[in-house]
Amino acid sequence: MRVLVSGGAGYIGSHTVIRLIDAGHDVVIVDDFSNSKPTVIGRLEGITGVHLPVHSFDLTDVDKTEHLFAHESIDAVIHFAGFKAVGESVSKPLDYYQNNLDSTFSLMRAMDRHDVRTLVFSSSATVYGAEPQLPMTEDLPTSATNPYGWTKVMIEQILTDIAASDDRWRIAALRYFNPVGAHASGEIGEDPSGIPNNLMPFVAQVAVGRREKLSVFGDDYDTPDGTGVRDYIHVDDLAAGHVAALDRIAKDSSPISIWNLGTGQGVSVLEVIKAFEKASGKPVPYEIAPRRVGDIAASYADPSRANSELNWYATKTIDDMCEDTWRWQSGNPNGYPDA
Ligand code: WQD
Repeated sequence: MRVLVSGGAGYIGSHTVIRLIDAGHDVVIVDDFSNSKPTVIGRLEGITGVHLPVHSFDLTDVDKTEHLFAHESIDAVIHFAGFKAVGESVSKPLDYYQNNLDSTFSLMRAMDRHDVRTLVFSSSATVYGAEPQLPMTEDLPTSATNPYGWTKVMIEQILTDIAASDDRWRIAALRYFNPVGAHASGEIGEDPSGIPNNLMPFVAQVAVGRREKLSVFGDDYDTPDGTGVRDYIHVDDLAAGHVAALDRIAKDSSPISIWNLGTGQGVSVLEVIKAFEKASGKPVPYEIAPRRVGDIAASYADPSRANSELNWYATKTIDDMCEDTWRWQSGNPNGYPDA
């Protein structure tokens, strides 16, 4: 299929582009490069060996979105594009609601006008809210503790209602746990702008010498070593999950499906630090700091529905995740070049 990947220059989008091409699909990228760099495209073309058509605009622009669908033949869409920083969403809620919802409305309107109704949506485990039952299963109630999370809850509801109104849609909502790691080549990886919010890129930047030390946000949680436990999933496994979901819904009969993409294993902050020191051979100095507002003690998936319905399994270990992250970070200490 010819697949439009919105946010295709981003961290998860770029890794999914590679997996789509490996699976024999054609790819068209749309990205406004507000949180990614155009140099990713050259890296992707180097890895895949194919030319990647790129449209550089913001999907909230209805006219440009219509123009794209009028001039590119698209069979399906994987929708990554959106703002995704939890903390920023608390300070800029209107930006987050307007951008994440309007871009989805603009995209789906254009899809409908052009009879493109196969959509994989990038959702998040954050929809399981503040006190989730563990391990998280897809039938749990959804809620959020921040505007970013609410945009994911709202878009999932919107997709559910659209699917109920018109059974020609084929929609998958994929709930990611904690994506980390990098393509084995070391040519692409996570490159957050500014101070990383997330653990793994911060640890990698300490190991490579860009940051002095890590603050561990609390060691008094009700977890085996007191630090936060998360279900880290290798971005390459995550990308494979998108291809599996796309292939499944393209021949499926149900208008919408929801799948967790996680390993089902919880790993603590201190275990990540230890694994990264082993993978990099570098020390990762840290200090215990106060808990971060909004953090939960533990989060990990029950991935059995994706395992059985998609025949998809996370294959990589936390050691693989750290080794691949280190290869990317040590080869690109300052992330992607600007030009
Ligand atoms: C992981 C653990 C922190 C940084 C977030 C979003 C979620 C999703 C994934 C988009 C926690 C601890 C972190 C640091 C630390 N994003 N930590 N020091 O919070 O589980 O999930 O990213 O969909 O929506 O909420 O990931 O990597 O920020 O934190 O101790 O400098 O590492 O307390 O226990 P999180 P994270």
